[in-house]
Amino acid sequence: MNKNYKVGVIGATGMVGQRFISLLSDHPWFDITVLAASPRSAGKTYEEALGGRWVMKTELPEKVKNMVVLDAQADIEKIASLVDFVFCAVDMKKDEIKALEEAYAKAECPVVSNNSAHRFTPDVPMLIPEINVNHCDVIASQKERLGTKRGFIAVKSNCSLQSYVPALYPLDEKFGVEDVLVCTYQAISGAGKTFDRWPEMIDNVIPYIGGEEEKSEKEPLKIWGKVENGEIVPAQKPHFTAQCLRVPVSDGHMAAVFVRFKNKPSKEEIIEVWNSFSGRPQELSLPHAPKQFLNYFTEDNMPQTKMHRDLEGGMAVSIGRLREDTQYDYKFVCLSHNTLRGAAGGAVLAAELLCAEGYIEPKN
Ligand SMILES: NC(=O)c1ccc[n+]([C@@H]2O[C@H](COP(=O)([O-])OP(=O)(O)OC[C@H]3O[C@@H](n4cnc5c(N)ncnc54)[C@H](OP(=O)(O)O)[C@@H]3O)[C@@H](O)[C@H]2O)c1
Repeated sequence: MNKNYKVGVIGATGMVGQRFISLLSDHPWFDITVLAASPRSAGKTYEEALGGRWVMKTELPEKVKNMVVLDAQADIEKIASLVDFVFCAVDMKKDEIKALEEAYAKAECPVVSNNSAHRFTPDVPMLIPEINVNHCDVIASQKERLGTKRGFIAVKSNCSLQSYVPALYPLDEKFGVEDVLVCTYQAISGAGKTFDRWPEMIDNVIPYIGGEEEKSEKEPLKIWGKVENGEIVPAQKPHFTAQCLRVPVSDGHMAAVFVRFKNKPSKEEIIEVWNSFSGRPQELSLPHAPKQFLNYFTEDNMPQTKMHRDLEGGMAVSIGRLREDTQYDYKFVCLSHNTLRGAAGGAVLAAELLCAEGYIEPKN
């Protein structure tokens, strides 16, 4: 594909915003043209606005250091005129985020969002690009509702489920997944934090992440949902029950999964499904598509967070320890990078898909 897009990052100073900047700084199609954040940062250079908050392992890219940060709310029309679409990851109240993202869409600026505000708006696709690209069909009816020609909102799902939903979805297609019990072990960057800024997490586990268990149980059902009359109707099954724990890890969410099937497969059949699974991003060779999305490790002590979270640039899912269970049919563990596949990387891949499939075109 030979297209160039001007993009904006809304919430550029935050943890996910910084990930966007590091991923986009040498992107073959997307050129960072606008950075925006709260009124606290607006008017400052990006470097000044960060004030030492840059936590990426890579250097702060030269290109963005001196860009003047705009006000994400006050400058919507200006931002929309300067870019082809925006990525959005802001820490605001849910109703404020809903209104903000709709305002961008209505200003004819597509929004690819990391926020949860619109995840259950029925005509907003919640994309895991390898799995539910067909949900993009609702974009036409969303545009009709918003009265727009090119503006719309697409979101990505919560970071907690980015390992176990990809592992279970292709198994459901073949064997029928009935019941899933999952316990997640989630990194502190999922709360926008580092150990410096959250010393209470050192040598500690906190058995509560506000709203996370509900998201981990409910969002998969939208991903499994069907498009009917321009809306996504969530599925009734599989049944999910989840517990989500915060653990002292910088990046990478691990999940321990128990699964019951309609037609119980053999262990070899399950591994074969994982090894052979690929989706539209692989077909289109999108820049951020991992070559092998699902990676099964045979060693008993794999995958490990520190060793495998960065697999294929943090865009692949690592799976291991598949074995029979006494209560369910099988149990296994899986891992994904929460701010890459689970946040900014997943959104960049979704945007690549939306561009490659013609849902977002450059303005000129
Ligand atoms: N961290 C993860 O792994 C992860 C994963 C998936 C989804 N998410 C979601 O992504 C979003 C951002 O998360 P984060 O971890 O990056 O948060 P964060 O580090 O706290 O950053 C928040 C960003 O929002 C901006 N902001 C705050 N109030 C604003 C306002 N009134 N108007 C405009 N911008 C405002 C901040 O700008 P200032 O610097 O100017 O205050 C900053 O850029 C959240 O909705 C979160 O749920 C996070």
